[in-house]
Amino acid sequence: MYRILFTLLFSRMDPEEAHHLAFRWIRRVARVPVLRTFVAAVLAPRYEELRTEALGLRLHSPFGLAAGFDKNAVGIDGLAMLGFDHVEIGTVTGEPQPGNPRKRLFRLVPDRALINRMGFNNDGSLAVAARLASRRPVFRTVVGVNIGKTKVVPEAEAAADYVKSAERLAPHADYLVVNVSSPNTPGLRSLQAVDQLRPLLTAVREAADRAVPARRVPLLVKIAPDLADEDVDAVADLAVELGLDGIIATNTTIAREGLGLTSDPALVQETGGLSGAPLKARSLDVLRRLYARVGDRITLVGVGGIENAEDAWQRVLAGATLVQGYSAFVYQGPLWARSIHKGLAARLRTSPYATLADAVGADVRTSA
Ligand SMILES: Cc1cc2nc3c(=O)[nH]c(=O)nc-3n(C[C@H](O)[C@H](O)[C@H](O)COP(=O)(O)O)c2cc1C
Repeated sequence: MYRILFTLLFSRMDPEEAHHLAFRWIRRVARVPVLRTFVAAVLAPRYEELRTEALGLRLHSPFGLAAGFDKNAVGIDGLAMLGFDHVEIGTVTGEPQPGNPRKRLFRLVPDRALINRMGFNNDGSLAVAARLASRRPVFRTVVGVNIGKTKVVPEAEAAADYVKSAERLAPHADYLVVNVSSPNTPGLRSLQAVDQLRPLLTAVREAADRAVPARRVPLLVKIAPDLADEDVDAVADLAVELGLDGIIATNTTIAREGLGLTSDPALVQETGGLSGAPLKARSLDVLRRLYARVGDRITLVGVGGIENAEDAWQRVLAGATLVQGYSAFVYQGPLWARSIHKGLAARLRTSPYATLADAVGADVRTSA
């Protein structure tokens, strides 16, 4: 059904327009109590064996929606209705900004991939904080808040911009993510260098603690798949040193490896971050490397090219306590989260592990 809709409607539309249309439908359905109850009953069944504890939070499952789909926190319940057990909103920047000029999102259908150069289009930290504050949740979903730098803010003042967002948004976040890995804000990824990252993460930690003295809001950093292996290790060591709660691996890539099926060379060369199937191998490698370095001391979140339950399972075995996805949702539609949950539960049942937690990192531990 979704395939037909995709072929007849979405694939003929501008990808960003298609996103807005689909997201509007999701939100409309979620506003009608009888409809959302029915849809959630079908698409978001709970599996006892997938219950997960991570970042001091209790989740129904390890699988959630990655940042970038709901940049402004306008449809969290709709996404929960479709089965995403955590939703990472954002990236939200200190100030509102329009993002890059359109066209800025491209589908590479044969490769099951996307290229985007959205450039953190969002309503800004003040508006998003107000929206989260007035939200009356219908479903119990974990809400992560991903923050980034406002484009016009000079790199030397980046920390103050993140601090502004952290102070405003931490009170409404189940966890907070410092995004230093989007390829679409000039200079952003250089903040991943340890000498820049250390003061930035320290300042954001302090800001979150100031804003929410009664609760320690878990703080994570999201990294790029394009880091050299030594830099991945350096971020891992820094995270341990600073007592960070988690690392999200990975964001989109500026590389163009793993693409072979898309025939239009101009499309492949569009500027921006590549996501989806071609990112799978590198994201998995980065995750494995991180787990080998930090083990269970830090929660790892695996994202990048996850398309099915087997991919999610491989991330768990490689060290991920939580897994996320985005691009495959575009290609597979509203049944996607359901199929991941069902398959993951089945995979666990036939595995040698009694619980999901036992499986986390098992592949890396045995190969060490
Ligand atoms: C259109 C689009 C917009 C995105 N926007 C953000 C963003 O604002 N912040 C962020 O941290 N990641 C963003 N991402 C990256 C995703 O969160 C994810 O890390 C990446 O797409 C890899 O996962 P996937 O292969 O399952 O899509 C975006 C991805 C896409 C496709």
